[in-house]
Amino acid sequence: MPRIDPDRLLTDLRALRAIGAQGRGVVRPAFSATDMKARRWLKSRYEEAGLDATIDGVGNVIGRSRSPGKALLIGSHSDTQPTGGWLDGALGVIYGLEVVRALAADALTRALPVDAVSFQDEEARFVGCLGSRSLIGALTRGMEDGAADSRGTALADALREAGLAGVPRLRLDPDRYAGFVEPHIEQGPHLEDAGRRIGVVTGIVGLRGVRFVLRGQQNHAGTTMMARRRDAAAALYELAYRINQEFPTVAGPRSVWTMGRVRIEPNAASIVPGYAELDLQFRDPEDAPLEAFDDVVARLVKEMNARGGVAIEAIRARAPIRPSRMDPRLQSHIEAAAERHAPGLWQRMPSGAFHDAGIVSERLPSAMLFIPSIGGISHDFAEDSRDEDIVLGCQVIADAAASILAEANATR
Ligand code: GLV
Ligand code: MN
Ligand code: MN
Repeated sequence: MPRIDPDRLLTDLRALRAIGAQGRGVVRPAFSATDMKARRWLKSRYEEAGLDATIDGVGNVIGRSRSPGKALLIGSHSDTQPTGGWLDGALGVIYGLEVVRALAADALTRALPVDAVSFQDEEARFVGCLGSRSLIGALTRGMEDGAADSRGTALADALREAGLAGVPRLRLDPDRYAGFVEPHIEQGPHLEDAGRRIGVVTGIVGLRGVRFVLRGQQNHAGTTMMARRRDAAAALYELAYRINQEFPTVAGPRSVWTMGRVRIEPNAASIVPGYAELDLQFRDPEDAPLEAFDDVVARLVKEMNARGGVAIEAIRARAPIRPSRMDPRLQSHIEAAAERHAPGLWQRMPSGAFHDAGIVSERLPSAMLFIPSIGGISHDFAEDSRDEDIVLGCQVIADAAASILAEANATR
């Protein structure tokens, strides 16, 4: 079985962390100067590992093996949240690189083709999972047109500034691959709470987002009597309250919803707000609760609009992500490797975060491995994992990759 090099793995993870580091965290949003610097660094690392590497027209970095036969694609994303942790995405990207090197160093696995990838904009600066959508051919003109970040920068401008305008975009050739494996930190507390060191992911949640736009009448906060007000913020508070009251009545056991962003105009203590926005996001491993949440939203908007006063519009805020299932065969290879290296210390589990594997699974058998997140913290500078778990997870993926590829190429 191939042996990974723990020092080389941790050194490269820390080198990637240094690009965009702020305190303990990392600021490397998609297409920023730090993001593109990290992508160029990664491309040269892939080349040093013997891969043919490219940065494609949306910023995906892909390193292709020169060996013949069915290949395994391994990786994740290297863009971060606006204030992100150092391992979200980066872990799986560096695992991909290390697995390529580990397999190449072992005479028994040297001929097995592994491609490594870092997808672009998983964290939704413009379009969530932009890079994996583009690779599988699911990035539509409609998603790109009008895509802008929270400061109003257009995607087309960001692409131009990153030097990617006119650069060809790669397309996945499903015949090339036995599958895709995305290793990742758990980003939640379940593994740590259960005392387990490896999670084998069974499925990934679906996600939908809604932006409510509320239009009332801006006015004087002293002279406008309550009955006459068309207060956009008061309507926003009522809407948010009713969502929190009504969603639990249709929720599944793993449903979650978040209202993580509001905008109130003009946001001044002595002015009745005339305009407000509220972003709602909900997730579930099944489609039915997502449909039910959409129905609740439509009904609440209709009821509140029927009263007059403030006009509420509900707009689909982001490209929806469908719930996905991970491939049972690939899962069984990861489980066998986990049992070899951490007997009794692994478990199957769903993913509450979304991942590029959810998109890629529409075209290729896909699987994910999780390692524990300390304190269950992620999307925060404090995000971290123990070195021992980082090393263990990579060894498990290296073993699983070897057995997946041995099986896929056995009859050739
Ligand atoms: C991905 O980062 C997510 O928000 O789940
Ligand atoms: Mn991630
Ligand atoms: Mn993330």
